[in-house]
Amino acid sequence: MSTDKIITLKVNGSAVKFIAPAHRTLLEALRHEGFVEIKCGCEKGDCGACAVLLDGEPVDSCLTLAWHADGHEVTTIKGLGSPENPDPLQKAFIETGGAQCGYCTPGMIIAAKALLKENPEPSLEDIKRGLSGNLCRCTGYTRIFEAVQVAAEELRREGDVA
Ligand code: FES
Ligand code: FES
Repeated sequence: MSTDKIITLKVNGSAVKFIAPAHRTLLEALRHEGFVEIKCGCEKGDCGACAVLLDGEPVDSCLTLAWHADGHEVTTIKGLGSPENPDPLQKAFIETGGAQCGYCTPGMIIAAKALLKENPEPSLEDIKRGLSGNLCRCTGYTRIFEAVQVAAEELRREGDVA
């Protein structure tokens, strides 16, 4: 018996529809649909490279079934801003050199976005804790933490809360 089901999501503001079996992860499904900005690292919830916002909350898409996301809203790194109009976090990761090789960056920024929404004025310890589910194989965490501090300052200056 086929377990395929039609899944309808809103991804970065646009409707996306595809057929997925019950075991298909959101990571596999969205990359298959062309959302390759979502990175695949460990596929077991250890690295955070695959993080997306699901109805505004950060999740590891490798641990989330596509069926579970049916009818919900997904935001990837591309949904936060564009090269012409970047999110303050995207801008800060470039300016501080926090992006390095860039592989962990989408997940880091998604996690940081969620952190700054909860806590617009995070201490360094808060940032470390907020990003503790995200691994950087380039290991340049200092610049990553700095990028989040820079973005937090800019958002506070703008009177925004991420
Ligand atoms: S790929 Fe999902 S947590 Fe590593
Ligand atoms: S910047 Fe290379 S893995 Fe983090």
